[in-house]
Amino acid sequence: MDGNGRWAKRRLLPRLAGHKQGVTSLRRCTQACLDRGVKVLTVFAFSSENWNRPQEEVTGLMSLFVSALAKNLMELHKDGARLCFVGDRSALGDKLMESLLEAETLTAQNDKIVLNVCFNYGGRWDIAQAAQKVVAQGLPLTPENLDRNMALAHVPDPDLLIRTGGEMRISNFLLWQAAYSEMFFSASLWPEFDEAELDLAIGAYFGRERRFGQTSEQVVSPESPAAHS
Ligand code: FPP
Repeated sequence: MDGNGRWAKRRLLPRLAGHKQGVTSLRRCTQACLDRGVKVLTVFAFSSENWNRPQEEVTGLMSLFVSALAKNLMELHKDGARLCFVGDRSALGDKLMESLLEAETLTAQNDKIVLNVCFNYGGRWDIAQAAQKVVAQGLPLTPENLDRNMALAHVPDPDLLIRTGGEMRISNFLLWQAAYSEMFFSASLWPEFDEAELDLAIGAYFGRERRFGQTSEQVVSPESPAAHS
């Protein structure tokens, strides 16, 4: 969800105003995904590296998360969204922890969409914590054992990864899980990312041929025993 700061700057507003607009955009995008039958939406809300931003922005973001959650929780619950907060919780304040746990418990049985909010998250952190768990279990470090211990083990790997804000990199997001994801880079700033942009990304996705390391001939022939299922 990149571009909140630039969106605000262009309007001569403080960066936090951009993040507030980012919350509105996230609500709109979640609804659009629900309407289109998307079963899992995973968003990068706060990275392990975002703590290094100016103190004022970090504090503002933390209170924005608490208030945005309080404001949107009941409606998301009514819409059938299951909220999961993914990331290192050890550094989070009591108030925030309480809000996250409350939201997860309330929505645990919902099945219309899983909304994973990656918070104090980093792809490298996830791989490292999964490896530590595998080692603690006395198991070999195989891809399968790592996979079972990743913070997003409760959902399939993403089909489509969208980055807004014009940057062409993944900045420590879903490093493990995005191995075969289709990438869509949007020049729109996150607060401007709307239903039309989402449809562009989904349209681009359906125009791609997903080969998972196989040849084009193998994946286009449904009888092929080697076709990826
Ligand atoms: C990156 O844009 C965005 C963030 C660091 C924060 C994203 C958070 C939200 C949209 C709020 C989500 C709310 C909840 C409750 C999950 P940037 O600040 O790096 O933008 P810039 O590149 O233009 O400076």
